[in-house]
Amino acid sequence: MVADNVATGSSATPVIETQNLRRTFNDTVAVEGLSLTIYRGEIFGLVGPDGAGKTTTLRLLAGIMRADGGSATGAGHNVRHEPEAIKPKLGYLAQQFSLYEDLTVLENLYFYADIYGVSQAERDTRIPRLLAFARLEPFRRRRAGQLSGGMQKKLALACTLIHEPEIIYLDEPTTGVDPVSRREFWDILSTLHLQGITLVVTTPYMDEAEHCSRVGLMFQGQLIACDTPEAIQDMVDGEMLEMQPEAPNRIAEVLEGMPGVREVQIYGDLLHILVDDAEARIEEVRSAVEAAGKTVHGIRKIKPRMEEAFIHLIRKEQSAARSRI
Ligand SMILES: Nc1ncnc2c1ncn2[C@@H]1O[C@H](COP(=O)(O)OP(=O)(O)O)[C@@H](O)[C@H]1O
Ligand SMILES: [Mg+2]
Repeated sequence: MVADNVATGSSATPVIETQNLRRTFNDTVAVEGLSLTIYRGEIFGLVGPDGAGKTTTLRLLAGIMRADGGSATGAGHNVRHEPEAIKPKLGYLAQQFSLYEDLTVLENLYFYADIYGVSQAERDTRIPRLLAFARLEPFRRRRAGQLSGGMQKKLALACTLIHEPEIIYLDEPTTGVDPVSRREFWDILSTLHLQGITLVVTTPYMDEAEHCSRVGLMFQGQLIACDTPEAIQDMVDGEMLEMQPEAPNRIAEVLEGMPGVREVQIYGDLLHILVDDAEARIEEVRSAVEAAGKTVHGIRKIKPRMEEAFIHLIRKEQSAARSRI
């Protein structure tokens, strides 16, 4: 478990704070010891594999679920004690959000405007703006059930924004969405971020962390790292070499177990080799490949990919947990 570092950016006003938050389901500890501060205007990514506790965390933050221990505040209010004060300030986009499939895009927006008590005058200005922003203007009379998955997510987001919340929680908004729509969705989130809204987004796609100002890595209910994407990449113990050898699978076996080599990953015809010291090992690695009778087409030092950094941190956490037993 780690303490989170101070956000980047100049105006670091906390808008979401949790202290030692905990939630269990019978024998399952879904969230434990979660202490987190999220600052105004951040686009905060909660990243982790299935079952890590991301959804539970968002539900606790949004006041939809009660914590068993610890406390949480959002937009200046205690989540547990002032749920009514907090509700108008929050938007929550559930992973299984509910749109009315028989209603059109416009009708869905009107429906959510009703729920949140948005006045007619406010609707008249907000709805055209949201349609343009979500790029749904041409589809405004289409039934929600007939939209593509990506468009449904954008409509759900537009509905979540109808009451102009200060904070929005988005639970896996890009899961199951095609890569082009995922990118477009992140562009839309960046626009909201630039408007000063605080966003907390969960994702199982570790590469999506790059879109965030800061990232919390969750694993087995705990926050095991929390920092900027760049700082998380720097948390990897060691340095990464990228090599394009002849016969990468065979070479991976040759390199594993060599002194100074910590991990070897195969990506098609490329190998990513985590070593203790890139400069010291680069020639040893090259020589080992040549000694195995294979050619090296290229080798260079690179920054580890976000996904590699996360996998590395999770493995480290697992071996630390094993040694505690
Ligand atoms: N309502 C629930 N009842 C029982 N167990 C739950 C419930 N919600 C979540 N869990 C369990 O808590 C853990 C964390 O789940 P969740 O927060 O959904 O993780 P994630 O969103 O990261 O996949 C999992 O082991 C899950 O099975
Ligand atoms: Mg989830």
